[in-house]
Amino acid sequence: MMKNYVDAMADALVDVLKYSDSSVEWPDIDDLQYDEAIKPEWFYPALQSEGESELMAILQYTQMAGLYDEEIGDLVLGVGLVEMKHFANVRDVVIKLKGTIPQPLNTKKLELGKNAGEALVISIKNEILTIQFYESVQEKIASQSKSAKTILQMLDKLIADESLHLKLFYQQLVKMKLTQGVESLKSTLTRYLKLD
Ligand SMILES: [Fe+2]
Ligand SMILES: [Fe+2]
Repeated sequence: MMKNYVDAMADALVDVLKYSDSSVEWPDIDDLQYDEAIKPEWFYPALQSEGESELMAILQYTQMAGLYDEEIGDLVLGVGLVEMKHFANVRDVVIKLKGTIPQPLNTKKLELGKNAGEALVISIKNEILTIQFYESVQEKIASQSKSAKTILQMLDKLIADESLHLKLFYQQLVKMKLTQGVESLKSTLTRYLKLD
């Protein structure tokens, strides 16, 4: 019982944070049934050591918070908390689909930048990779089952949150007058940024 209480509290906390898109809800992953048409391997990059990995994002944002606390500490730490929830849910889905959790992370590719501006540019690139990765998983799901619907809902939620992260990081770059760092990404940014 204790675990459920703590889980519920943690969920409530993370969901009210402005770093998660509260207009898109998580599906009930507990009820997910095994569906052989949905391969757990499709989700592995989210749990490994590449740019689109949730685990990598957690490490990156928590360390950036330590390095550039004054400028972007609250922002990256808040986003990092949401990434923890993403990791937990993707991991649960992989287990329900009878996959295995990938081996320990190789953090050699961890990039933190030399200052807050560089950290934001790196973060923006990784959020874009992550959105594109989840979109590619969406396209693979052809199954019409209830499980497929649940997973598609989870992917919608993940993409909504990552899009919000992209927007928050970009707005911070604008505020710091450092958008020249993402000049080369302009067309991609226009596609993914839903600026008010
Ligand atoms: Fe994430
Ligand atoms: Fe993110």
